[in-house]
Amino acid sequence: MANPVPAQRAPRPRHSPLVRCIAMVLLALIVVVGLAVLITWASVNPKKLKYSIEQGSISRYNLTNNNHLNANFHFVLRANNPNKRISIYYDRIKATVWYEDHKLSINDVRPFYQRRRNVTYVDLNLMAIQEPLYGTVARDLRMEKDSGTVNLDVKIRSKIRLKVGVFKIHRHLKIMCGTMKVPVSSSKEFQRVLCDVDL
Ligand SMILES: *[C@@H]1O[C@H](CO)[C@@H](O)[C@H](O)[C@H]1NC(C)=O
Ligand SMILES: *[C@@H]1O[C@H](CO)[C@@H](O)[C@H](O)[C@H]1NC(C)=O
Repeated sequence: MANPVPAQRAPRPRHSPLVRCIAMVLLALIVVVGLAVLITWASVNPKKLKYSIEQGSISRYNLTNNNHLNANFHFVLRANNPNKRISIYYDRIKATVWYEDHKLSINDVRPFYQRRRNVTYVDLNLMAIQEPLYGTVARDLRMEKDSGTVNLDVKIRSKIRLKVGVFKIHRHLKIMCGTMKVPVSSSKEFQRVLCDVDL
């Protein structure tokens, strides 16, 4: 009696040629799209937005005996968009003034549109109205004020849309300027400061 031939197990089916073909096409597509994005980005050549405070002054300064501050702050922000292909909508802008981590004032700035390769000067006007200060903060402020300048920080937050061709990219922009010496009496000169940008 002949031994029965042991049943050979059929080899597991490998991916069919069709599946392999689809995979190759998908891979090729991904590579092509990736390259297109890279080339587009390279041609847009995004450059950093640059900001600085060009002027700063304090007027109507009055720190009362019970440490309440009244003052008007004026700054000029220089916004530089060096991009050839990106324009910017500043949709909502909030500016704040800080002294030693104490927020003295907050104000909205009028929204604006900045064209490509444009420098725009923005007036920032803020007011402290009966702003209560801690004793130590008030003491430091008095001492600095007597020297003619006060050390302040200006922070700006803005919702922006970057317009690239037909696309609009929504971003949150943070601009941090300072610490800068801001003259209280007009006898001192203001030194422009460059701002840090967080986009
Ligand atoms: C500062 O404010 C206090 C309280 O409002 C007022 O009495 C004082 O006259 C003011 N000082 C100046 C220099 O305006
Ligand atoms: C930037 O744009 C503003 C507003 O459109 C315009 O007033 C200003 O002259 C422009 N500045 C430059 C340098 O192009």
